[in-house]
Amino acid sequence: MAGKRTCGCGVSRRGLLGTAGATVAVTAVSACGEPPNPQEVRRGRVIGQTDEVPEGGGAVFSHSKLVVTQPEKGRYKAFSAACTHGGCTVQEVEDEVIRCLCHGSEFDVVSGEPLSGPAKEPLEPFTVTIDGTDIILD
Ligand code: FES
Repeated sequence: MAGKRTCGCGVSRRGLLGTAGATVAVTAVSACGEPPNPQEVRRGRVIGQTDEVPEGGGAVFSHSKLVVTQPEKGRYKAFSAACTHGGCTVQEVEDEVIRCLCHGSEFDVVSGEPLSGPAKEPLEPFTVTIDGTDIILD
C-alpha cells in the first residue's frame, strides 16, 4: 500500500499504535529502525551509571543502542539492544529476561541467547568497564 509507513521490523506505525498501549507504542515506534551501526556506538564512551542497572536485572540505554545487565552483584554484561528478529530496540529487562515487545522475543540476561519468540540469534555482545559508577563501552 502506497504511503504505508513501517519500521525496520515490518510493523506498521498504525498497527503499533492500534494494538499496543500508548506508552508501549511510543517506545516501539521510536525504537524501531536500523540495527546499531558499531561505528556509531563509540568505544570508550560512558553509556550509563551503575545505579541505573539493578542487580538481577538490567537497563536499556537506547541512546547508545545497548542493553546492560547485572546478573550478579558487580558483574555487568552488555549487548546490542537491536533485536535479532527484526531490528526493533529491545524495550525492557525484567525477571532476568531481556524483552523485545515488537513480536515478543525474549533473551537471556547473561548470554543474550534467545529464550522464546521469533528471534533465533543471540543479541550481539559487547564488553564494558566500570569506573566508579560510570559504565564505559570497551
Ligand atoms: S523485532 Fe520482532 S521480536 Fe524483536
